[in-house]
Amino acid sequence: MAIIQGRPVGILGTGMKLPLKVVTNSDLEKQVDTSDEWIVQRSGIHERRMAQAGESNAALAAASAREAMRDAGVDAGDIDMIIVGTNSPDTLFPGVGPVVQGMIGAGRAGGMDVQAGCPGALFGMSAAAGGIASGIWDNVIVVGSEVMSPLIDQTDRGTCVLFGDGAAACVMGPWREGAMRVTHADMKADGNKSGMIEFPGGLAAEPASERTLREKRHFLKMNGREVFKFVSKELPDYLANFCQSCGITCDEVDWWIFHQANIRIIEKICERMNIPMGRVVINLDRYGNTSAASIMLALHEAREDALIQRGQKILISSFGAGMTYGAMLVES
Ligand code: UT7
Repeated sequence: MAIIQGRPVGILGTGMKLPLKVVTNSDLEKQVDTSDEWIVQRSGIHERRMAQAGESNAALAAASAREAMRDAGVDAGDIDMIIVGTNSPDTLFPGVGPVVQGMIGAGRAGGMDVQAGCPGALFGMSAAAGGIASGIWDNVIVVGSEVMSPLIDQTDRGTCVLFGDGAAACVMGPWREGAMRVTHADMKADGNKSGMIEFPGGLAAEPASERTLREKRHFLKMNGREVFKFVSKELPDYLANFCQSCGITCDEVDWWIFHQANIRIIEKICERMNIPMGRVVINLDRYGNTSAASIMLALHEAREDALIQRGQKILISSFGAGMTYGAMLVES
């Protein structure tokens, strides 16, 4: 059941932080055998950000969390939990969540990471919604934060042109007048397809060795074509069923926030579901695929740009390594 019961749950504020360095498609033309034309036609991406020294995952996450707290009018001392959706933690442990807790001085908060592929922040928001609705937590910061660039083989044209770094956050808490309200959420996984996107080397299954380095097992591996097919096939029916379980038709959704992986995937889903592209939030042209940060960045920018108006329905969905996917319905 997708409906969130118990205390009404709100999104009280949002924020974001991007690395300063912009990497354009023409920069990548000098790095690998690619072209601006190929990247734009096949993905819709024009540029992305790349973290430099001092812009760790935790630093970006903390900066976005501070902005979200300012926006929400909530102090660090009021935070009960920090959940960071990430696939590129600075270290396997400690997680980014506990480090952010220390950085922002959230004295009484817990902190943890959700590692669930690109939907990590969406899964984190769902967990936060459950915790707030049931009364375990009052205020929760959920961050999507990625510094993927060191985890990507910068000589692999199949992946290095797609991903970007960045972080965005929201503060969730008991719903109050004027805040967006989270009403429904659903999360799925299909572990039998886990080989489509993986990071095999340097961990317990394949501890770092000369072989893992030589064979570049310590970089993201993705079968892009298979991911494309899987998502284009699964997501439309899944999202239509999700809408039904929320008691609405797809036409009643005012704004669609999809994981910003590839404009062609989004177009394909929209074509199959008869969703006009004018109702879709797009920022992948500027940031590329920022993995778990992507839906958070899009949500924050859609609020900042006043795309989202009072009384509208926003459907947020994501997919990624696992394979995982999920959806959330929010009313503004
Ligand atoms: O957030 C994680 C979820 N991941 C995704 O959503 C990724 C989903 N997949 C995709 O976005 C697309 O499949 C890609 C953008 C990764 C690739 O697009 P495609 O249309 O599926 O291309 P392809 O993999 O079928 O490759 C077509 C050709 C190949 O050459 P041949 O075999 O036809 O000679 C590739 O080697 O394009 C070549 N190619 C490139 N050419 C220039 C692959 N990458 C590049 C490149 N520049 N960067």
